[in-house]
Order: sequence, then C-alpha cells, then structure tokens
Amino acid sequence: MSDSVNPDKLNAFIGKMLGEMGAAMGAPLVIIGDKLGLYKAMQGAGPLSAAALAEKTGCHARYIREWLAQQAASGYVDYDEATDRFSLSPEQAMIFADEASPVFMAGAFEIMEAAFRAGPRMAENFRTGKGMGWHEQHSCLFRGTERFFRTTYNHQLVGAWLPALDGVTAKLTAGATVADVGCGHGASTILMARAFLRSRFVGFDYHGPSIETARQKAAEAGVADRVTFEQAASKDYPGTGYDLVTFFDCLHDMGDPMGAARHVRESLAPGGTWMVVEPFAHDCAHQNFNPVGRIYYAASTLICTPASLSQEVGAALGAQAGEARLREVITGGGFSSVRRAAETPFNMVLEARA
Ligand SMILES: C[S@@+](CC[C@H](N)C(=O)[O-])C[C@H]1O[C@@H](n2cnc3c(N)ncnc32)[C@H](O)[C@@H]1O
Repeated sequence: MSDSVNPDKLNAFIGKMLGEMGAAMGAPLVIIGDKLGLYKAMQGAGPLSAAALAEKTGCHARYIREWLAQQAASGYVDYDEATDRFSLSPEQAMIFADEASPVFMAGAFEIMEAAFRAGPRMAENFRTGKGMGWHEQHSCLFRGTERFFRTTYNHQLVGAWLPALDGVTAKLTAGATVADVGCGHGASTILMARAFLRSRFVGFDYHGPSIETARQKAAEAGVADRVTFEQAASKDYPGTGYDLVTFFDCLHDMGDPMGAARHVRESLAPGGTWMVVEPFAHDCAHQNFNPVGRIYYAASTLICTPASLSQEVGAALGAQAGEARLREVITGGGFSSVRRAAETPFNMVLEARA
C-alpha cells in the first residue's frame, strides 16, 4: 500500500462500496419481487414464513427463501429470528407494494434494468458519439418511466402544479384544449382528463408503441371520449389554439428543444400557457452531486443524452440542465416570460408565456 493512502479513508470507502455492490446486485431481485407480486402479497399480511409466502404467490419455496434472505439483509423486509418469519412494515410497503403511495419506488427499478441493457451499446457510443433513440431502448424503460414519474404526477399535478400556473385551473374547469407532448404512456394526460371533465386532451409522442399503450390506458380509464393520442414529434404535432401545452420530463430528451419551443409558441392560443416539467436540478453541475442528481446523471448518460443525440440538432441538454439553461432554450423559442411555478425533490415546473 502506498504511503499516500490513508487506511481509515480506504476502509470507509470499502464500506461504502460494499453497500453499493449489495444495492446493485439486489436490483434484479426487487424487479422480480415487483413482477411476481411478492411485495404485494406481503403487504398487510403480517409475519410470514418463506413457505407461506411461496404458497401464497405460487412460487418455488427454495427461491422464495433465498429472495427473502437477501431482502432482509438489504433492510427491505423485516425478519423475526424467534419465529423465522418475514414481514413488510408499513413504510417498506409504501416503497415496494403500494402503487398509490406518494413514495412508491419499485417501478423505478425497471429503468435500472433498461440502463443495464443499454450499457454495451452505450459503451460503443462513448467512442463514436452516436445516439440511441428512445425507441431503441428496451420496453422495460417505457413501463418503468411511466411508473416512476406517475407516482409524483398522481400526488402533485392536479392538486399543486396546475394550480401554481396563472389562471390555468380555471380554464381547465371551464373547458380548454390541451396538448400533452412527449406523453409516453399518457399517465399525465389521463390524470388531467379525469380531473377536468369539460376539457379535451390530445397526447403526442414520436414513439408509436407508447401511443398504442396510452390509447389502451385511456380506454381502461374510461376517458377515451375526451382524450386522444397521436404519433407526432414535438416540432410538427398538429393543431393550433391550445390553451395549455404540457411537456412532462421530455424536453431535455429532444434533439432540438428550441425548435420544439418555437412550435409550441405557434400552436398556443393567445394567452395560452406552456407548462414544462423537467427533472429537478441546480444550474451548476457540482450542486447536483447529491443522491437525486446521482440517479439523474446516470439516467441522463445512458438514456436522455443519447436520445437527444439520436435526433436532429442533438442539443443534448441532459437531465440535469438546470433552470438557467432551460430558460435560454424556452426564450430562444420566442417565449418572453418563464417562471418556476413549483418544485419537488424530483421535478421542477416552469411556466412559459408568450
Ligand atoms: C422520459 S419520457 C417521459 C414520458 C412521459 N411524458 C412521462 O412523463 O411519463 C420522454 C418521452 O419523450 C418522447 N420524445 C423524445 N423525443 C421526442 C420528440 N422529438 N417528439 C416527441 N416526443 C419525443 C419519448 O418517446 C418519451 O416518451
């Protein structure tokens, strides 16, 4: 060991890395627990033996025992040595089992699966500078993204974010036309349609399979009479006279966000509002060197930046662009006022007016 190495610092770093390796190695097991309904089966069930959970879920008892041991070692479930039973506390259930909870996170692990799958191709792209379109990612990304962001939208969009925009809730209540661009599976579009019965909504996304899924989800939600979904890109979606145009976590994924801003301005009704929801970020990179920034920089490197680089212009804003850079893009598209209307640990909401 070199003299310049501080053994205490090294030991502390080794300890940190053990935690990192455990989390990364366990990520596929969270996905399995989510997919097979293991967490949901444990929710509210009280202490269960491995055999009981296996029986309840129709799974192989030996695998369930091993899975539970890893979950207990991770602190994701509790273990009682005296009875050899495992249980999911109310707090653990909010993270892993309850999709309606404001802190449900199991769905986000599907994004991690997509990131691993993108890894080999992205290693090559690091050399060539090529992009990787959203449509070229594994389908677990589309599901994972919907489930990750939907959690916040469910709890913020109708109750906090829309009311934070000047006069928008009143227009939606009275009956407005709304374009939700880059809508993915349409979680935000459907939520708004459920809340504002007199308004009409159209969701646009360049990714055809996401539009298909969004249509199915609108039908299941019983809002298909007021919500339509069409495949179209942000610079050429049809229609004008929209009272509200929304971009949820997608502006930075676009190759030409300023071109998109210009198109939004042309498509808005006089006095209309552009709502831009972006990942929360400070303006200087080093200010984002924290747990949320860490997750977003990883997604940005493997998903968002290559998505933008795969399209025309290739502006590559990245998922941590920050308000100042976003403001440049938005005003560059012809908007005269930009205001941060709301924020959460994961998102910031900008209101742009012509
Ligand atoms: C991170 S996802 C967000 C999806 C959805 N808004 C949400 O919040 O769950 C980014 C979305 O932007 C879409 N997208 C990327 N570039 C686009 C473009 N140029 N025009 C329209 N949609 C685009 C992708 O297909 C993807 O659905």
